[in-house]
Amino acid sequence: MTERVVLAYSGGLDTSVAIGWIAEETGAEVIAVAADVGQGGEDLDVIRERALACGAVESLVLDLRQEFAEEYCLPALKANALYLDRYPLVSALSRPVIAKHLVEAARYHGATTVAHGCTGKGNDQVRFEVGIGALAPDLKVLAPVRDSGMSRDKAIAFADEKSLPIDVTKKSPYSIDQNLWGRAVETGFLEDIWNAPIEEVYSYTSDPALPRDPDEVVITFDRGAPVAIDGRPVSMLEAVLELNRRAGAQGIGRLDLVEDRLVGIKSREVYEAPGAIALITAHQELENVTVERDLSRFKKSVDQRWGELVYDGLWFSPLKRALDGFLEDANAHVTGDIRLTLHGGKAVVTGRRSEQSLYTYEMATYDSGDMFDQRLAKGFVELWGLPSKMAAQRDQANKETSL
Ligand code: ARG
Repeated sequence: MTERVVLAYSGGLDTSVAIGWIAEETGAEVIAVAADVGQGGEDLDVIRERALACGAVESLVLDLRQEFAEEYCLPALKANALYLDRYPLVSALSRPVIAKHLVEAARYHGATTVAHGCTGKGNDQVRFEVGIGALAPDLKVLAPVRDSGMSRDKAIAFADEKSLPIDVTKKSPYSIDQNLWGRAVETGFLEDIWNAPIEEVYSYTSDPALPRDPDEVVITFDRGAPVAIDGRPVSMLEAVLELNRRAGAQGIGRLDLVEDRLVGIKSREVYEAPGAIALITAHQELENVTVERDLSRFKKSVDQRWGELVYDGLWFSPLKRALDGFLEDANAHVTGDIRLTLHGGKAVVTGRRSEQSLYTYEMATYDSGDMFDQRLAKGFVELWGLPSKMAAQRDQANKETSL
């Protein structure tokens, strides 16, 4: 029986050429799988047809937007996930959901191998392969761009020779990866890290410096998940779409970052993630109001570790899974409303309201109605400082005897 290969298909030059390239190199039949993770752009029916025209025996287009929002972006929100304190893991979140569906397609269509079009320099090869390995350790992997010399020039020559229906001149100067959670842009003039990004790099956000009226939004959360915007019930997917539009219109969520890739390289990437940044800003503030102090302090280290694991391609790993359990639990009281003003490139919290609030007016106030018993503070401060006071007394005694 002819072997079958499932290919992660984007519709672009590299993966279109990979269909015929893999078929020629291995004699296998290629099944193209394209995923809709909210990247917009080209019509997915056109992409499905293109795979067939390039020689795929089957071509699937999967609408993963709901699943991606609920099962990938939402856990990231519960972790306030920002790699290097800034990057909301846009590409790192989409690879595992795509890997999961590549594996499912491989099982369904009896394929022995999964292929992707990543180069050997990036994080995404790691995320695909480690993800696939964790879900289906028996499947083999093919990476023609990385492993069998399918360079850009060769790909163009191959496309010409076979008259593949791809416009090879349409190549943008940038490498772009985008989905619901945001957009990543690299290469071209951005590789000189002294060069400032220009307006044409951006598409999810408009220029934050343009004059416009502020937009006020109230986001309602239930156990860490956004459930309403301005009082209208929303799903996670709808929340992200609406905030991408409204925060994007105010220029929120742009960032220009030199980051540490897992393969050891430092690289420069320009991101825009308006919805993600607005949601994380609101979620973080609701945590400040509703999460007990020690849990909140500890959670910050879990949040960071979770983000690193996901960035490093370990979505389906035991530690990541265990931390998910912690994050669910830590979000149990993150319920209530946050009001944000979206303006001038910033999402600013201006109000909080929650039935789970641990902020108690009677404890915090300096006005009448104060319930905090200040007499208790005196002894508390004394005992709190006791260990360092005793150490200081010892050090002083040592100094005196050595004189
Ligand atoms: N640097 C980001 C990451 O590793 C994005 C990778 C894809 N970027 C791109 N422009 N193609 O998650």
